[in-house]
Amino acid sequence: MTIVLGIESTAHTFGVGVVKDGKILANIKKTYTTESGGIIPSEAGKHHNENKEKIYSDALNVANIDDKDIDAIAFSQGPGLSPCLLVGLRFAKQLSEKLKKPIVPVNHCIAHLEIGKTTNAKDPVMLYTSGANTQIIAYSSGKYRIFGETLDLGVGNFIDTFARLIGVGFPGGPAIQKLAEQGKNYIELPYVVKGMDISLSGILTNLKQKYESKKYKIEDLCYSLQETVFAMLIETAERALAHTGKKELLLGGGVACNSRLQEMCKIMCGERGAKLFVPSRDVLVDNGAMIAYLGEIMFNSGIKFFGKKADELDIKPRQRTDEVEVSWKN
Ligand code: ATP
Ligand code: FE2
Repeated sequence: MTIVLGIESTAHTFGVGVVKDGKILANIKKTYTTESGGIIPSEAGKHHNENKEKIYSDALNVANIDDKDIDAIAFSQGPGLSPCLLVGLRFAKQLSEKLKKPIVPVNHCIAHLEIGKTTNAKDPVMLYTSGANTQIIAYSSGKYRIFGETLDLGVGNFIDTFARLIGVGFPGGPAIQKLAEQGKNYIELPYVVKGMDISLSGILTNLKQKYESKKYKIEDLCYSLQETVFAMLIETAERALAHTGKKELLLGGGVACNSRLQEMCKIMCGERGAKLFVPSRDVLVDNGAMIAYLGEIMFNSGIKFFGKKADELDIKPRQRTDEVEVSWKN
């Protein structure tokens, strides 16, 4: 029996999760939000610092455990924003010292994929679409590999930027989805797939010009944005399924809350005899439970940092998914 605590702090969410033998006992989080404009990393870091103790004690209460019951402390090592990541790292070190328990450093993107297994996916291709990240990831030949990704903006940031331009606030995803549902006319937009990768900045410029020309209905622009960009995601995800021969598609990241994206994924999977897995919102967006979940798997395989080795651990703001040494899987 193992109990692992997981700390998530890569971007705007500070979360603490508790997992016992693969079961989520608690998943508490608080998200830094802004009225307008994007995330200010130092402000988000401050937010995490101010909230960490309370989120930690709430997580222990919900899990109904004592701090002495914790076997290891996992934290998000990267990728992410340095001021935010540092709060997680320092908190993990502080707890490790206090509780005399080891630290397990976890890659955020792989955690998104692994937590998907609680939905019963066994060996999926993951379409990971969040604010900062857009990647298609799957485990293959000893590593988690990136089969395709955005060459510039994350799809969530792309949607949020357009939402800001048209004045519907942050986060833009839900508002754009609502407007899109009222759109009827498809307006031609650039469709930018390069090999297995996608690019969004040219589409954003094109949308801006169309919006400023005042010739189009805003609902139609939102509808066309979703249809175009989601089709690009589906095309590359489908090719990753074909290439790997895998039969499961797993969604991860906040943009996967979009019901039109889910619908399009379902149609594509249906057409090629694959199965779609959509985790519940709690574990789809950034959260501490996914860090605890993967942390427990890594810990049980013998990955643990203690004492001087723990002191030497650092954040990895630009860590790439395929850079991670995967010694915990066989
Ligand atoms: P990461 O650090 O993994 O990149 P993040 O913190 O930037 O994550 P998430 O919390 O996973 O991102 O997701 C936030 C994004 O999801 C925002 O860009 C938001 O607009 C988008 N989003 C939320 N709901 C929807 C929706 N219904 N449709 C489209 N986008 C959505
Ligand atoms: Fe994320």
